[in-house]
Amino acid sequence: MKELSLNILDITENSVKAKATLVEIAIEENDDILTIAVTDNGIGMTEQTLLSVTNPFYTTRTTRKVGLGIPLLKFAAEQTGGGIEIVSKHVYKYPKEHGTRIFAKFFKKHIDFTPLGDVISSIVTLVQGHPDVDFVFKHTHPQKNLSVLFDTREVREVLEGIPLDSFEILTWIKDNLTEQYAQGQ
Ligand SMILES: Nc1ncnc2c1ncn2[C@@H]1O[C@H](COP(=O)(O)OP(=O)(O)O)[C@@H](O)[C@H]1O
Ligand SMILES: [Mg+2]
Repeated sequence: MKELSLNILDITENSVKAKATLVEIAIEENDDILTIAVTDNGIGMTEQTLLSVTNPFYTTRTTRKVGLGIPLLKFAAEQTGGGIEIVSKHVYKYPKEHGTRIFAKFFKKHIDFTPLGDVISSIVTLVQGHPDVDFVFKHTHPQKNLSVLFDTREVREVLEGIPLDSFEILTWIKDNLTEQYAQGQ
């Protein structure tokens, strides 16, 4: 993929498919390293899924033969000298604290580093596609004074029942994120 924001979209779609009600996307950067952590409270993976999940020919879906979301993220990270880590607790074994965390680390100065791209569009796309799921988005880059924080639970509280996927709300989210990014240097 040409932009890491598309990988993020893909990884977060997995969380939604796993029936997560809350997904946190956290990007932390400094001048050398970028990390992405996607944490959800979905049903989690069985041990067998967890073992197979970085294999590009593994998927629990039946409509298409090849699952690629996680292998593509792994590839994008490894080609910079970084890598991924997955921790998952399946609901059968952990009925109260199930969920998945996927962490990826990238070395930004490597020639094969994929730029982050349009992460605002990815967030708006996620909210638009899944207005009933809560998303927390964080992006920090201390050297650039960047500290973006967005939480649909806070927006929902103010909106008192207005769905998040209405045009006005999506536009507001996009503008809010754009403004927060503009505050970094
Ligand atoms: N956040 C998650 N929670 C639970 N299961 C997951 C999660 N992410 C991935 N999986 C499991 O790993 C499989 C492979 O994921 P992925 O590589 O994105 O391929 P695909 O989504 O095309 O199946 C999924 O089919 C699903 O069974
Ligand atoms: Mg997927």
